[in-house]
Parts: sequence; structure tokens; C-alpha cells
Amino acid sequence: MIILCGCLVVVIATIIAIVRSKKPMDLIMAEAKYEMIYNAMGSRALMQDWLMHRSNKTELLPQPGKIAVITGGARGIGAEVVKMLMKCDITVVIGCRNIQSAEMMLKKYRDEEINTGNIDPIQLDISYLDSVRNFAAEVTKKYPKINYLINNAGIMFGPRIETRDGYESQFATNYLGHFFLTHLLFDSLKKAGDEKCNSRIVNVSSCAHLAGDINFEDINYRSRYISSEAYAQSKLAQILFTNYLDALCKRNGYHVQLHSIHPGIVNTELFDGTNLKNLAPWLPNLMFKTPEQGAIPIVHACLSSDLEGKGGTYINNCKIFPTSELAKGEELQQKLFDFTNKLIGVERFGETL
Ligand SMILES: NC(=O)c1ccc[n+]([C@@H]2O[C@H](COP(=O)([O-])OP(=O)(O)OC[C@H]3O[C@@H](n4cnc5c(N)ncnc54)[C@H](OP(=O)(O)O)[C@@H]3O)[C@@H](O)[C@H]2O)c1
Repeated sequence: MIILCGCLVVVIATIIAIVRSKKPMDLIMAEAKYEMIYNAMGSRALMQDWLMHRSNKTELLPQPGKIAVITGGARGIGAEVVKMLMKCDITVVIGCRNIQSAEMMLKKYRDEEINTGNIDPIQLDISYLDSVRNFAAEVTKKYPKINYLINNAGIMFGPRIETRDGYESQFATNYLGHFFLTHLLFDSLKKAGDEKCNSRIVNVSSCAHLAGDINFEDINYRSRYISSEAYAQSKLAQILFTNYLDALCKRNGYHVQLHSIHPGIVNTELFDGTNLKNLAPWLPNLMFKTPEQGAIPIVHACLSSDLEGKGGTYINNCKIFPTSELAKGEELQQKLFDFTNKLIGVERFGETL
């Protein structure tokens, strides 16, 4: 009831704001449609978090000597993932824009008496391909074998911005940069896996993929921009990529498996500036998962022995969960994979020499 009332307030207020914005009627209708879809999707996901809260748990077993790489690990859900991996005695390379905040985070964790594991923060702007290239070069020089890659950094909504490379910012940050990073680190991931234990790539997607499609004709939404539509596209793209690359690994006998994740509806700064947080700021504190609860399914996808050999799956509250029908489409997966390689000039995925 509380969720429904909160969502209703947000939907009505947003539709009034959209109508008052004096945009063309077709854009107003499309934005209103997305607003309603997101509210329905979000409410359903909140219910799932509540109903599945007992399954949202994982074991933190020691894994000394293992190396994890995470993007955006210095705050939000990522910071909690780093904490849990440190508890497992893992060395975590954090790709972040602000090295100092990662160092402060390490100090805080050591003060909390987490004396196992370590972090190695390295400069990364995931939305900028040159930065991704430099980051990957430094990582592979220091760590020839990588056990876990967690593609976590993300942005949501906001005005249409183009990155330095000329891509729509949510597409570039949430999907394209991570696709490129995975290509550059793929060889090190292959080297770390063996018959007994695959290395793993975890793409932090979202239930928002359910509203997504891939707009190949205008991937950067230059002709018509609805921020929630672009976010959904980026999150669907992550799952299509996960499923395609996992199947490729299986076909080629590579000891690498991939998972995509919905972390839950989590109270983080991702929601800052959204209609939801502006109009019903009490809702996230009351109803959303904590960042720690949001981190659990991500860590589970990395470490759980129950998931060994079960790549190509989407995890919600530590359970394998169905994705949208579009995400399952092999033709679409192949089309996006080829399209993305062409976009960034990769001739053979995973081969960097
Ligand atoms: N919160 C939710 O309810 C929810 C639900 C579904 C999916 N997700 C997904 O979960 C992931 C983590 O989100 P969150 O909730 O933890 O959000 P958050 O608190 O806003 O954290 C986002 C993280 O991404 C990093 N980041 C953003 N742009 C970057 C860039 N260009 N280069 C490098 N790092 C960048 C941020 O680093 P800076 O400190 O440098 O900004 C920050 O560490 C995202 O992929 C999001 O889409 C979240």
C-alpha cells in the first residue's frame, strides 16, 4: 500500500511536470509511458526483494591469492562488494575516477578491523575509451591473471550528454566502456580459469532491462531522447553481451563464465536527482535494500560454488531468474556483439595483440 501510494504520487507529479514542459505531444506521451512502465517495474522489483529476502545471502569463504577487478568500487553498492571480497582475502583492483576516495575507504575498512585482502585503486573513467585502454594496460602489467571482473560502475537518467568519444553517456558508461574493458582483460581472465574453477565476469545490470530494446538506427538517441529509455537500452545491452560471451566461452572451451545481475532496488546516490527521490525522499530509506544487501548477489555471482558451470544466467536475490525475451534472443545477441566490435574497432574479441 505504501509503495503504491508513493508510486502514484511520483507518476502523477511527473506526468504533470512532463505536460507542463511544453514538449511535442508525441514525446510527452512516450515519456509518460516510460514513467508508468518504470514505476510498475520498480514496484514489482521491490516486492521481489521483500519476498525473496531470505534467499539474498552468500558464503564468504577465504580465497587468498585471487585477484578481482571492479569498476566503480569506491562508493555505493561497489564499495560493499569490495568489503566482502576483502573479507575473503582477495586483492581488489578498483577502477575509479577518484583514487583518494578509494584510499579513504581502505582506511575505514582497516579501522573496522578488516585485516584480510587488499585494494589497488587505479584511475579509470569507464565512459572514455582511452582511459579504459590505459587502465587495462596497467592492470594486465601488474596482474597477468584475473579471477573476477565486476563491471559495476553505472549512471542512471539525467539530461542527454555525449561523452568525449561522442556516445550517449549511459550507453558509454554502463555498456560500451565495460564491453571494451572485458575485451582488453579477457586474456588475463582466460589464464586464471581452469577445469576446476572458471574465472567469472559479472555484469551489474538491472530489472530496467525489461523495458529495453536496442535502437541500432540511433544508438545514441540523437533524434529523440528519453533518459529512462536510454538507461533500459544500456542495461539490456549488458545482458545480451553476457549471454553471447558466455556461449562463446562454452563453444571454445574457455574456462570463463559470465553472469548478469539485478542487485535489487538499492538506496544509493544513483537515485539522486530522480523524480522519485525529489518527490518521495522517504521511500528509499523505508523500502529499498541497503548497499550491503545489494552487494550480496554480486558477490554470490563471483564466488558461489553452486553457480560453477552455470554461466549465461541472470541473478536476482542470489537466485537464477528469467530475463526479458529480447535478452534471450541469440540473433539479437550476435547483432549487438558484431555492432559493438565494429563501433570500437575490435576485429577479434579478446585478442589484443
Ligand atoms: N541502486 C539500485 O537500485 C540499482 C538497481 C539496479 C542496478 N543498479 C546498478 O548497480 C550499479 C552500481 O550502482 P549504485 O547504485 O552503486 O550507484 P552509485 O552509488 O551512484 O555508484 C555508482 C558508481 O559508478 C561509478 N561511476 C559512474 N560513472 C563512472 C565513470 N565514468 N567512470 C568510472 N566510474 C564511474 C561511480 O564512481 P564516482 O564516485 O567516480 O562517481 C560510483 O562508484 C550500476 O551499474 C547501476 O546501474 C543499481
